Amino acid sequence: MTELDIRPISGLLGAEVQDLAADRIDEGVAMQLRKAINDHLVLALPGLDPSLREFRDIAALFGTVDPVPYLEPVDPDVPEVVNLDSLYQVKADLWHTDATFLEQPPAIALLHMLDCPAHGGDTMFIDCHAVYDSLSPALQDFLLSLTCIHDDARGDKAAEHPVVRTHPDTGRAALFVNKQFSRRIPQLSRPESQMLLSYLFRWQEQIQFSTRWRWSPGDVVMWDERTTLHVMVNDTEGRRELRRVSVLGDTPAAFAPDRIAENFSLPKTASSGFYGAGGYDF
Ligand SMILES: [Fe+2]
Repeated sequence: MTELDIRPISGLLGAEVQDLAADRIDEGVAMQLRKAINDHLVLALPGLDPSLREFRDIAALFGTVDPVPYLEPVDPDVPEVVNLDSLYQVKADLWHTDATFLEQPPAIALLHMLDCPAHGGDTMFIDCHAVYDSLSPALQDFLLSLTCIHDDARGDKAAEHPVVRTHPDTGRAALFVNKQFSRRIPQLSRPESQMLLSYLFRWQEQIQFSTRWRWSPGDVVMWDERTTLHVMVNDTEGRRELRRVSVLGDTPAAFAPDRIAENFSLPKTASSGFYGAGGYDF
């Protein structure tokens, strides 16, 4: 069996697989890739440059390949793969986890860079296990009792997930909120929810929890959507064209679902507090 040459790209998360060719990915390589993504959360395959079908088939090594919401496929024969082109689409320059407004958000996502500027437009990732581990035990314990409502901002799709989720393979806990889609913690009053989410967003977006990939055309990067955030560094106007595919995830589960508290509703007579009802926008 071919032993993969896997090298970390930062002190915390992310690794690069050296010299892998798309036609060398057999079941033995797939097993090593599955282990490596659990170990490192982000896995770069530099210069892999797969065909459309090879790209879809690599994703299928990790589970059921799932069409991406709202985007058109590149080829109707490979409907799971979509194109992302900075000429026509808004840049994903806000820290986020993809499609957390779905009941079953993606487990793994893969990008294949077709064309990119020589400099700039890197993708950064955050390790949400490390974020959770960095919180005080008292706050960790409190967060375990909470859920959060995520929505797509269009009013089409929304889902309620635990604020802390457990990775189904490794059993590790991770903070599971993101600035783009996480709206409200229903067990708290509105100002409490806004304050806590605002704090968690700021805390988790610190560079010590991050790693960064500098793209070249042909690179493939895959990451665990259940336990990471990502963002495009919006520092270039150059065209960036990618293909994307993702693997269906499970329903996010907390450590102890029986500890989730009842939803909180503010008594009609209660003061909305310092920030005013709906007046504090983060
Ligand atoms: Fe994204």
